[in-house]
Amino acid sequence: MKNDVAFRIERYRRIIDVSLDLASTLDLNELLKRINRLAVELTNAEASSILLYDERKNQLYFAVADNPETEAALSSVVVPPESIAGWVATHREAVFVPDVQQDQRFFRNVEQMLNFQTRSIMATPMLIKGRLIGVLETLNKQNGPFTEEDLEMLMVLSAQAAVAIENSRLFQQGDLINELVHEIRTPLSSISTISYLLQRPDVSETQRQELAGMIQKEIERLNGLTNTFLDYSRLESGRMRFTPTPFDLSGLIEECVRIVSPQAIEKGVRLEKELAANLPIFNGDRDKLKQVLLNLLSNAIKYNRPRGDVTLKLWRNEKTLFISVSDTGVGIPPEDLPHIGERFFRAGNVERKVTGTGLGLSICKHIVEAHAGQMQVSSQINQGTTFTIELPLKDPA
Ligand SMILES: Nc1ncnc2c1ncn2[C@@H]1O[C@H](COP(=O)(O)OP(=O)(O)OP(=O)(O)O)[C@@H](O)[C@H]1O
Ligand SMILES: [Mg+2]
Repeated sequence: MKNDVAFRIERYRRIIDVSLDLASTLDLNELLKRINRLAVELTNAEASSILLYDERKNQLYFAVADNPETEAALSSVVVPPESIAGWVATHREAVFVPDVQQDQRFFRNVEQMLNFQTRSIMATPMLIKGRLIGVLETLNKQNGPFTEEDLEMLMVLSAQAAVAIENSRLFQQGDLINELVHEIRTPLSSISTISYLLQRPDVSETQRQELAGMIQKEIERLNGLTNTFLDYSRLESGRMRFTPTPFDLSGLIEECVRIVSPQAIEKGVRLEKELAANLPIFNGDRDKLKQVLLNLLSNAIKYNRPRGDVTLKLWRNEKTLFISVSDTGVGIPPEDLPHIGERFFRAGNVERKVTGTGLGLSICKHIVEAHAGQMQVSSQINQGTTFTIELPLKDPA
């Protein structure tokens, strides 16, 4: 009995950890993975799945795969009340099914697809004030049948999971779309003004040329914006694919420098590069790394002073490739440094007329981390900033 109490307390402690853990991420994919892991762990089950509810279509769909085989199930949908999860969704009630083979509601399609032998299921609705977010299921208790206590744990987890999922959705959709609209409106309204001017009869041919050029520029900006947002949302949802190939670093550097030099010339900034002689052939996603370099270089130019310098350096040691981009610009205030790389974050000392979304660096960070690397920043206000990237070099063996 005493043991029982200790066990209970231990479980409640776990629940508190869980709620802290779930509250600490707003990345939906990561969140779903954590919920899945916790469901298995808390109920001592073999597997677990999360079905999210689409209110408009009245469908449940599998949202997370805990092994490669389950990925096949991700496209399958359940229409309540069919299947056990569907029953839970319809009745907004938890179920315990000790032997699924004896249960009419059991849905064999998914099981066949998964190549997974289900014996028992426990499923709870994920609800917020009675509104259904999804269904959380755990499958096959490791030893013996699921208990009332397991059910209680799963219910507590479901309630917390529902809130965490809702939060992350609101954060992602709300902010991203608001920001996108906000960013798109500015170039749109300039295009509208310019085209109005273009239609006036008193505009000279030279002015006409100039205005057409401005439209072209705004359109390029819009294009850039949509790409940034797409990249960002792909990264966030884990849909971005990385394809590593071996490539020559100096070729990549030449290309990047060529792309940003018009921007540097326009701003009157000098670009220099220092490449070590012993650079390796690097194995990584060339296009994605190009994007990282372009954003760092364009920041270094954008946040520089006229006649400032930008220096791009590459060197290596046995295990690591280092890339740094330094500038002699406005710098980043010390209180803002910890927030650099957070999405939409722009430092307080940036002039309003310098346009940007504050997404560039968070995309860089994601990409560098996807290469098992890291990015650091050091900065002195009004002196300059250095971003340094470290990328592990794969052991040739
Ligand atoms: N080299 C730099 N010097 C000074 N501040 C910088 C530098 N690089 C980045 N920052 C600061 O970090 C913020 C975030 O940079 P980030 O590249 O993510 O966004 P952005 O340049 O504002 O917009 P975007 O890259 O999406 O067009 C910038 O707004 C700026 O305040
Ligand atoms: Mg930027």
